[in-house]
Amino acid sequence: MDKYLGSTDETEIKTLTERREELEDIGQNCSINPTMGDIINRRFSRRSFLGGSLAVAAISTTVSPLALLTAEEARANGASQFDFKEIEAGVDETHHVAEGYDADILLRWGDKIFLDSPEFDPLKQTAEAQSRQFGYNNDYVGFIPLDDNADHGLLVVNHEYTNAEIMFPNFARVEKVMEDGKEEEKVVLGDYTKDLVDIEMAAHGGTVIEIRKVDGKWQPVLDGKYNRRITANTEMQISGPAAGHERMKTPSDPTGMKVFGTINNCAGGVTAWGTYLMAEENFNGYFGGELAENHAEYQQLKRLGAPGGQYAWSKFYDRFDVSKEPNEANRFGWIVEVDPFDPTSVPKKRTAVGRFKHEGCESIVNKDGRVVLYSGDDERYDYVYKFVTKGTYNPNDRAVNMDLLDEGTLYVAKFDEDGTVTWMPLIHGQGPLTSENGFASQADVLINTRLAADALGATKMDRPEDVQPNPKTGKVYVMLTNNTKRKEEEADAANPRPNNAFGHIIEITETDGDFASTTSRWDILLKCGDPSIAEVGASFSTATTKNGWFGMPDNCAIDADGRLWVSTDGNSEEQTGRTDGVWAVDTEGEARGTSKLFFRVPVGAEMCGPTFNPTSDTFFLAVQHPGDAGLATYEQPATRWPDFRDDMPVRPAVVAVTKQGGGKIGYGESF
Ligand code: FEO
Ligand code: CA
Ligand code: CA
Repeated sequence: MDKYLGSTDETEIKTLTERREELEDIGQNCSINPTMGDIINRRFSRRSFLGGSLAVAAISTTVSPLALLTAEEARANGASQFDFKEIEAGVDETHHVAEGYDADILLRWGDKIFLDSPEFDPLKQTAEAQSRQFGYNNDYVGFIPLDDNADHGLLVVNHEYTNAEIMFPNFARVEKVMEDGKEEEKVVLGDYTKDLVDIEMAAHGGTVIEIRKVDGKWQPVLDGKYNRRITANTEMQISGPAAGHERMKTPSDPTGMKVFGTINNCAGGVTAWGTYLMAEENFNGYFGGELAENHAEYQQLKRLGAPGGQYAWSKFYDRFDVSKEPNEANRFGWIVEVDPFDPTSVPKKRTAVGRFKHEGCESIVNKDGRVVLYSGDDERYDYVYKFVTKGTYNPNDRAVNMDLLDEGTLYVAKFDEDGTVTWMPLIHGQGPLTSENGFASQADVLINTRLAADALGATKMDRPEDVQPNPKTGKVYVMLTNNTKRKEEEADAANPRPNNAFGHIIEITETDGDFASTTSRWDILLKCGDPSIAEVGASFSTATTKNGWFGMPDNCAIDADGRLWVSTDGNSEEQTGRTDGVWAVDTEGEARGTSKLFFRVPVGAEMCGPTFNPTSDTFFLAVQHPGDAGLATYEQPATRWPDFRDDMPVRPAVVAVTKQGGGKIGYGESF
């Protein structure tokens, strides 16, 4: 759930917006550095080829000067490792991709997942139909090849949350309400019925679906034997140190080992052994009711914002009412591991990996065979974690790997001023994590992960989102979306900007390429926002154009050649004069900090799920909550993407981006 909460100071927004508009036309940030100019001069000595009089600045966005350079050669030249014609930043009703690429709609909310799924009928939605159709608000997208074939595989997709106001017909309306003595128009939701709640529950969770490229175009395989929908009611097992603990037991599950469903699955991951990790993020919002302040669970639930009361589920299901079943909330906030190769398998909530608002869970096999998982806790002032398995990955025996995530060490990061990252273990009995301090067992440490990390003195970050290891370079990228609440006196080296409206990206270098190391180095790759406004303090390279900068980094992907692609959440006409999208970001050499816009979403959407197939000739992107802007309702959405039919609502969808004529994404013609 990622609505941008914005700056609290409206006057300031207005001033910045005005200044941005003033500055937009004078071509700032379009300059290219001399190294790039040298390369262009060398490669395009015949000016006539480029059409005569040509501003050097235009070259970087309109031609492919690096068409014949490999990523390594480009790096050696100090030039960008990316070669595509950047698109214009802006806001409109549809998506845009770089010239020479196709962005095809692969799966939309309501699409059939099985041969016998009902056709999508938005006026006759039922929970039963929805549980056999593609869910709402696609977020994480993972691709798991079948038969070592990059053109055939399983797509695993999270369905993070639902937007009732644009999902259900005749439900929301725009009303005039009085707010602070002023009359304002607002979208007001109708009364929830149990049927609507059940549809919402069925629209959450995830999808596993076989897909295949046929004649250059990706298609879902509806009779795929692995196809599966996971919902907020799918039976799951609780495993690891907190399984069976008293605090995990509820009236319907006296064992503390079995739970129904997973919710608010934001980003996630795919493991080396081909399992799908679903990260439970803002689970707090689904719980209603009240707990007395002296209740044993009150403090830790408060630290997580539970009960948040943003959904009506607790009106119809006691387990979502903390006053009736206070332990149910302890059974959410985990990483869920799904074996997509067995559609009857029971997903497992891996408690060893900790309980917080997991943005995602990207993993890597370390050189010693242990597996390292990275996860951000997406809240202002929360933390960055990594988990190192006790056992090692066995590439020849999948069964051995299937419970690797039940044993290991969870660490939380402290980013020191001198550029050191200290990974502090969350182990019962060590340091402050003792019974005297309320941590009577490792289960307590894990259920109360946030409180344990508080006790260790972890560094409070500006909303940690995706944390992505780069297997090619041994570096790890941490997306920090924003934190407009950070005050001047709270700024630190790793979160240097107070009122950080546009976020930043931290690069961690693991010691000697050892992802399990407990001491690493950190640096800031990018401070985001408009670099033409000095007060913003953005740090994009001067080769970055007015289209190339972005705010609010959220998710990211590393392609087959180790290049970084960043997707965003929170850009809009008002905030940055552009929608969200995917930007290619140079991390190496002189081009480091150069960013280029590759794809942008329709109005109201955020960009999620960037992931490549293994050959990097397909880029899967998730367009989440399109049309969710202004006073949008089902009847009056901000766009009717992607169908643009009056009888169809706006629909979140996964897009498959391919290069016309084939080839790797983000390179010139010869690749
Ligand atoms: Fe669901 Fe952190 O975004
Ligand atoms: Ca996100
Ligand atoms: Ca990612």
